[in-house]
Amino acid sequence: MTGNNARISHPGFAAKLCTGAQAAAMIEPGDTVGVSGFAGSGHPKVVPIALAERIGQAHDRGEDFQINLLSVATAAELDSALVAVDGIKLRMPYQSVAAMRNQINAGKIGFTDTHLSHVSSQVTAGMFGPLNIAIVEVAAIDPDGTLLPSSSIGISKTWLDQADKIILEVNSAQPDGFRGFHDVYYGPTSPPNLEPIPLTHPKERIGVPYLKCSLDKVIAVVETDIAEQTPDFRPPDADSQKIGNFISEFLAHEVKQGRLPKTLLPLQSGIGNIANAVLAAIDAAGWKGLTAHTELVQDYMLQMLRTGTLAFASSTAFTVSATAQQELFNNLDYYRERVILRPAEVTNHPEVVRRLGCLSMNGLIEADIYGNVNSTHVMGTKMQNGIGGAGDFARNAYITFFTTPSIAKGGAISTIVPMVSHVDHTEHDVHVLVTEQGLADLRGLPPRQRARKIIDVCAHPDYRDALNDYFERASASGAGLHTPHILPEALSWHGRFLESGTMRA
Ligand code: COA
Repeated sequence: MTGNNARISHPGFAAKLCTGAQAAAMIEPGDTVGVSGFAGSGHPKVVPIALAERIGQAHDRGEDFQINLLSVATAAELDSALVAVDGIKLRMPYQSVAAMRNQINAGKIGFTDTHLSHVSSQVTAGMFGPLNIAIVEVAAIDPDGTLLPSSSIGISKTWLDQADKIILEVNSAQPDGFRGFHDVYYGPTSPPNLEPIPLTHPKERIGVPYLKCSLDKVIAVVETDIAEQTPDFRPPDADSQKIGNFISEFLAHEVKQGRLPKTLLPLQSGIGNIANAVLAAIDAAGWKGLTAHTELVQDYMLQMLRTGTLAFASSTAFTVSATAQQELFNNLDYYRERVILRPAEVTNHPEVVRRLGCLSMNGLIEADIYGNVNSTHVMGTKMQNGIGGAGDFARNAYITFFTTPSIAKGGAISTIVPMVSHVDHTEHDVHVLVTEQGLADLRGLPPRQRARKIIDVCAHPDYRDALNDYFERASASGAGLHTPHILPEALSWHGRFLESGTMRA
């Protein structure tokens, strides 16, 4: 607590400097806390850890202490620390950390899985009660009291607007050179006063390059100097390369058909290794001058911006590995001309996604033969991560792709099944399904033709006969011939592999 931090240039904010432990002491049991960050970037690094220590000490004294955590941060160290002390009662809207997932699936943490585009309106409407505290990481506090966001914006604007009290972490490990990357739109937020969000191209600026924050609400300012630690992505394996190549070839075909311009339409790419590999394939295929309107600039997007494959990216976060982070930090001037970070309320807004005509690409856990997609629940009951922004893009994109290996758990299970055990994205929102076996363009097809195509093109050969057998018997069963099913059998599909012992627990 020096007060000399060159990143805190407003005396009113500087007067509130304190340690992480002092800030954590201002959070009460039962508080609902909105934490900044997006998929491992831009999250507070000190106060949540200090809070976990405080909660642990309270529990040692036999006191109740849990909070409701609202955040898309999904940072391993943050979620794990709070889970380790049993500090979370409710989590929303998205998580992807094993420790958190385990507690959710053990029934110990309530998880409200929410479309990211709904978060702001639901929190503003009070669906989660009052937002007692926001903890927001920034790169600097400027002389006029505005905040320079760090590596993500995510939901920070809503947290700052809606919270009763605010704790700021000013992280000097985040470069001051982030200045100029951000574009924060401050339009009306609730009906009936909403207006069109005036974004018509990923490159447009429609807001201000800072976050606004009422000094009156700020109860603590904490200095930090902790770098982000996103693990390296796996290099693309053979299967994800095939998936990427299928998509790249399909896009070339769509250009030839005159259905897409030569520079395509803005790409949205989901989180994870396959998403990264798809981008790698697009990068290798010689495309030039493309754009992205997405949630995350991951490693390959940086590379695509470097090679010129991508001319511009509009996003809400940089989620890059340590290696790519170095490349970013060393070349901030270059990337500043090619990247805009926006609030998730804008990147994920259905209106914007539809207007820009995004090409949306996300992963799944299982898809059924008619094209319904489960991207959240393993075996229909266990939460994996959450829907995140996938639904915002899937419903509204110009073309929606879902990608997956055709088998999971070393081949013990098919990711193509007769009927998904949980539905996140209905058949209506699934235009193109891609596995390492092939790409099925489902647009325009009625259900039985979709089934034929998905089984023939996407399913793994080891499961094709069983799926064909099911589909043929369902079609002959006298059930409705629009979407034939043998319901009890469809729902026990997983069980039969479990019973035969071929599926791992
Ligand atoms: N049955 C059981 N387990 C399955 C499965 C299935 N049908 N399909 C995948 N899995 C398991 C994998 O084995 C793996 O388990 P592990 O972590 O124990 O190794 C895990 O699910 C993740 O699968 P993986 O193949 O590594 O895929 P991924 O990293 O590409 O993630 C999703 C796939 C669906 C989990 C991920 O894309 C996701 O969370 N999607 C929803 C949110 C989203 O799309 N966000 C994008 C916009 S924010």
